[in-house]
Order: sequence, then C-alpha cells, then structure tokens
Amino acid sequence: MSNQYEVLGKAPGPEDLKKLSPDNNHITIKKMSAGYGKMEILHNLDLFVSKAQSLCLIGPNGAGKSTILHSIYGFTNVFSGNIEIDGKDITNLTPAQKLKSVGIAYILQDNSVFPDMTVEENLLMGGFIKDKTEESYEEAEKIFQKYERLRNRRNQPAKVLSGGERRLLEISRALVMKPSVLLVDEPSIGLEPRYIDMVFEILGDLQKNEKKTIIMVEQNAKKGLEFADIGYVLVSGQTAIAGKGDDLLSNPDVGRLFLGG
Ligand SMILES: Nc1ncnc2c1ncn2[C@@H]1O[C@H](COP(=O)(O)OP(=O)(O)O)[C@@H](O)[C@H]1O
Ligand SMILES: [Mg+2]
Repeated sequence: MSNQYEVLGKAPGPEDLKKLSPDNNHITIKKMSAGYGKMEILHNLDLFVSKAQSLCLIGPNGAGKSTILHSIYGFTNVFSGNIEIDGKDITNLTPAQKLKSVGIAYILQDNSVFPDMTVEENLLMGGFIKDKTEESYEEAEKIFQKYERLRNRRNQPAKVLSGGERRLLEISRALVMKPSVLLVDEPSIGLEPRYIDMVFEILGDLQKNEKKTIIMVEQNAKKGLEFADIGYVLVSGQTAIAGKGDDLLSNPDVGRLFLGG
C-alpha cells in the first residue's frame, strides 16, 4: 500500500482496543472479515464498545466505515470472525432479529423521511416490526413529550420539517423500538451548521441519560471526535489508529489527514 496513509505506523491490536473499552463490554467484534458478495472489504477487524460508550469511526472515503455498521446490522457477508452483544454471538441474525430481539437500531444517513406522511405516521413506522403496536404508541408518545419540535408538528406532513428536525425524526423513529445500540451513519451530513450541534446534543442526551451505546461514522472528524468517547481511524478495511476522542483530536497524523490541520 503506497499512499498518504502508509506513514501511520503499527496498527493497534485487540489488546490496545480493549484498553479503550475496559469494562462492561456491550458490542464486540472479533477478527471479522466481511464484505459484499465475494468481495472482502473489512480484514480481520476487532472492535470493542462498552455499554453507554460512544465510538466514532473516521477515515477516508471507501475505507469501510459504513461497512462496519452494515456488518453489525446484518447487511454484509461475514466471511470469518464474529460479532457479539453482551457476550452472545449475533453474527448470523437477520436485521429484523437484531432490531427486535437484540435492540440494535440502524439510523440511515440518507433522507429516509416520507415527506407526505405526517410526523406522527413517520414516527410510528419505526415500530412497524413490534408485535404490540400499543407499545409503539407509548414510545411515540414519550418522544413527543420529550421533543417539542416534533410535538408541534405531529399532524403536519413531514415535508414541512427543517433539515435538523428531519434528522431528529429519523433518530426518533429508531427510538420507537427501544434499542440499546444506535448505529448512526453520518448524522451531520447535509445539515446546515446550526443544526449539526443540535443533532450531536440529541445523541449526547441519548448516550448519557438513556445509556444508549453509540457507534457512529462521521465525515466531520472534528465534530465526531469531540462528541465520542473513543475513535477508530479506518484505512483500507483495517483500524490504523485508535484512541480516546480527545487524544485523536490532538494526534498530529489525525490532524494532518482528517482535521485539515
Ligand atoms: N452495497 C455494496 N455493494 C458492493 N460494494 C460496496 C457496497 N457498499 C460499499 N461497497 C464498497 O465497499 C467499500 C467500502 O465502502 P464504505 O464502507 O461505504 O466506505 P466508507 O463508509 O468508509 O466511505 C468501497 O469500496 C465501496 O465501493
Ligand atoms: Mg460511508
């Protein structure tokens, strides 16, 4: 590999990664190789995240960041290795099983709100897979109590929402299933700057007050690392650097390659 990233030095091993998430492991990936069709994108990847911890994945385009989220959620072929939640192997569960019985929610990076449905209808879509719809209604009600921005527009078509409110609706829709793990792909993408902080505040609240475990991908490396407890720098399907968010922010290699410094 001869490119601008080859100077990054020795990649962290599982022992190094484990030190960043020492207790109460929630999600563990062990020596996973995964990809699409027969193409391997992630090579022998390890990952550890503690309960109520946040991990931000950064790295160049095409490094495989989204593929990690896809693999956890069950959208890829896992060729070897495994994925565990609370020590239980979930590698081969379907996305529906992961959402329903394991509590993993995947929040799409693209605009996935239905513009002509009301805010409330959009929110309830998040619970379509629950057996008891009353439970979905209860969760939706809690979300409306919590977020005035959605409450005020509950009976209006979702197309009236601002960009930031749409992202809030996308996140809230996932919450209807009461997940314990949030997989969030590029929460700040396409948002005006004034809404980016709002979205990170919402995610911070979910982590701190509702003890959600968060794995996010973020092109805006500075925002992502300021938010997250720990970060992995992914290059060509492997973790090249890992550290606490603050340490990565002050790491000169990370600064030069990803923070425009
Ligand atoms: N659905 C897919 N089918 C086949 N290849 C894919 C698919 N999604 C992504 N890839 C390929 O996997 C590699 C990693 O992509 P991705 O995980 O999206 O990168 P990142 O999120 O870091 O930008 C890229 O080479 C991309 O072209
Ligand atoms: Mg991506």
